[in-house]
Amino acid sequence: MKDFNLEGRTAVITGASRGIGFAVAKKLAQYGATCILVSRKIEDLEAAVQKIKESGGKASAMVCHTGYPDQIKAMYEKIMETYGSLDILVNNAATNPHFGEMLTADEGIWDKTVDVNLKGPFFMIKHAVPLMKEKGAIVNVSSVNAVSPGLFQGVYSATKAALVNMTQTLSRELAPKGIRVNALLPGLTDTKFSSAIISSDEICKFAVSQIPMGRYADPEEMAGAVLYLVSDAASFTTGASLICDGGMLV
Ligand SMILES: NC(=O)c1ccc[n+]([C@@H]2O[C@H](COP(=O)([O-])OP(=O)(O)OC[C@H]3O[C@@H](n4cnc5c(N)ncnc54)[C@H](OP(=O)(O)O)[C@@H]3O)[C@@H](O)[C@H]2O)c1
Repeated sequence: MKDFNLEGRTAVITGASRGIGFAVAKKLAQYGATCILVSRKIEDLEAAVQKIKESGGKASAMVCHTGYPDQIKAMYEKIMETYGSLDILVNNAATNPHFGEMLTADEGIWDKTVDVNLKGPFFMIKHAVPLMKEKGAIVNVSSVNAVSPGLFQGVYSATKAALVNMTQTLSRELAPKGIRVNALLPGLTDTKFSSAIISSDEICKFAVSQIPMGRYADPEEMAGAVLYLVSDAASFTTGASLICDGGMLV
């Protein structure tokens, strides 16, 4: 268990008020990390923080729209003031505002998707790195869509593929500083994000038929993978894409 011990480490998790981000924050807190939960709505964040505290974890909330670099900068100033350093960053928040053939997407869709899914993680990392004094670990939550674009999700899929590419570049550039950068590629997972798929019997049946394990994931199953990537158990792993998809891409 020593390799998974995160005692004394501070972690920022974006999109942590629910779904995969919340499961990750809960898991990292369970293994000893002090977790800073980030999203846009303070009420939801406070409820999430409360749940982690009730189970004995250390957590706090910070509001930030990760599509706005000025909000990211202001948040890191607060993190610096309050915590002084940072060990772990999980870039998990994302958006998917367009469903349809790719050529029907307009400039607003592109800007919003790129701002939150790609520029957001970039600026989160840019500000995190100076705070990572010893060994740092960064996980970018991408998607199986990075490898095989989802139907009618062309813009979202393109940003998730670019996020994997950015992970690889930064893993090389940050390795000399002792900072590891990896990507997690979840398959279908039961969250609000995927509710349009999971709540429709017909669409869900088709989606699950593409998954050899014959089911979708629980957010908790993504949290274990992130715990591995940020922990010392993954000390020689950087630039990797960990696919957690029940075998879908095989
Ligand atoms: N669920 C799946 O099947 C699936 C599959 C592959 C990949 N993923 C990826 O997994 C990650 C998490 O998704 P999820 O399924 O857990 O989604 P979710 O349940 O909808 O949760 C999304 C979280 O992100 C926050 N958020 C959204 N936009 C934000 C922004 N601009 N700034 C800050 N926070 C923001 C939300 O809170 P607020 O709305 O209050 O800000 C919420 O906490 C995403 O990167 C997604 O692409 C999910």
